[in-house]
Amino acid sequence: MKDRIIIFDTTLRDGEQSPGASLTTREKLRIAHQLVKLGVDIIEAGFPIASEGDFEAVSKISRVIKGAVVAGLARCLQKDIETAFRALEKAEDPCIHIFLATSRIHREFKLKKAKEEIIRQAVKSVKLARKYVDRVEFSPEDAARTELPFLTEVVEAVIEAGATTVNIPDTVGYSTPEEFGEIIRCLKREVSNIDRAIISVHCHNDLGLAVANSLSAIKNGARQVECCINGLGERAGNASLEEVVMALKVRKDFWGVTTGINTRQIYKTSRLVSHLTGIPVQRNKAIVGENAFAHEAGIHQDGILKERTTYEIMRPQDVGVPKSLLVLGKHSGRHAFNEKLKALGYRLSPEELDRSFVRFKTLADKKKHVFDDDIESLVDEQLDRPPAIFSLEYFNVTSGNRTVPTATVQLRKGDKVFQDASCGDGPVDAACRAVDRITGITGELLKYELRGVTGGKDALGEVVVQFRSGRRTVHGRASSTDIIEASVKAYLAAVNKIAARKDKPRKK
Ligand code: KIV
Ligand code: ZN
Repeated sequence: MKDRIIIFDTTLRDGEQSPGASLTTREKLRIAHQLVKLGVDIIEAGFPIASEGDFEAVSKISRVIKGAVVAGLARCLQKDIETAFRALEKAEDPCIHIFLATSRIHREFKLKKAKEEIIRQAVKSVKLARKYVDRVEFSPEDAARTELPFLTEVVEAVIEAGATTVNIPDTVGYSTPEEFGEIIRCLKREVSNIDRAIISVHCHNDLGLAVANSLSAIKNGARQVECCINGLGERAGNASLEEVVMALKVRKDFWGVTTGINTRQIYKTSRLVSHLTGIPVQRNKAIVGENAFAHEAGIHQDGILKERTTYEIMRPQDVGVPKSLLVLGKHSGRHAFNEKLKALGYRLSPEELDRSFVRFKTLADKKKHVFDDDIESLVDEQLDRPPAIFSLEYFNVTSGNRTVPTATVQLRKGDKVFQDASCGDGPVDAACRAVDRITGITGELLKYELRGVTGGKDALGEVVVQFRSGRRTVHGRASSTDIIEASVKAYLAAVNKIAARKDKPRKK
């Protein structure tokens, strides 16, 4: 097992710290299930003390996820560690991940603590966490900028106290591959009890070196990598899971290690995370970007046709990029639709299948060709949808270059239908204002993104909005061949999330 790299996915914790990404518990659960299918070893589900929402998500994930370790983050504080344990209590295989900064800058300016005090607090916390769980990971935050002799001392002390994994973070993405590799080499050489723990790494991408630094650490003895789907994470993100995994697979001859990842699930996971966080994948992103397998130049196309390996180092199907673009149309039946869903990796309940099929038929009536992307968008939107408090019955907008944009909207709540109208600075704005007047929920539209799901004039338009009401920020997503309809539905999906919280009976 020495040469098997442990993949620790932190999409739901560090990834959710990405500016603009926030996920509901329901969305986190969907991602967690997909991460299990992907074959990650550890899912860091959140930071339980950070908020009620994080606590709820970590406990739900702990209760339902089987086949992967579930980790929860905690500072080196008793209340954090105890809260993390309460959230992880029902997990099949729980891990408490505790961290404390060790670099001079953090010690002097943030913590105002001397080295001895840092070691004392780290050791005490690891011992406390070990009373609750068998797996305890310790991270000396900003390790890459910590003086090596002190880092060595900290690592040795926490292993002695019972840490089963020591994670070396490059918290601010400052290191370089040679330097970071040297840190790992030094720890292996200098820490007397290093063989009693797994060395992990956690690299941020501020200089675009997160993947390179992680790989260099592996070359030098690290056996766990912390990473995020699509390279999400605080600021410029963490090492991208798909890039690390595919580099190890494609260049196994060089790194000589394996992972337990089912690489055919990579594309689907990437799409799901992008849909749910509302953060699109950059077109030319390695492995999962739209252009990753597109050959444009004539010379390249000619080469590929003669021999694929002239310009292709991995096949699209290796990462699960669906082969066929063109799929179903309005004559396609339920069986063909279900087969297509299975090929795309969905397993729907009979009720979910019924609802998706109805939506597919409606779409196929409007659109000649229904592509894989259309189907994914349609199904994801439906699976993601919490029970709607308000649903759209009808809308009508008037817009033009010499008209004040106006919208009339009807929404259903239970068995009542409400109607209102508003003007705005565009048809979408007018319709959203009409929705606000009906629901009585006000807030700020932080982000509005519209993209064509596929090509062609009849393409589905997918809208993702980010909406803040009070202290809650939520996402809404919807697609339609009519972009105003997609916009109103996406806005309503976000508003419904706020309304659902308001309608929830309060705990006594
Ligand atoms: O970047 C970092 O240092 C972290 C730690 C909590 C591991 O995210
Ligand atoms: Zn981090």
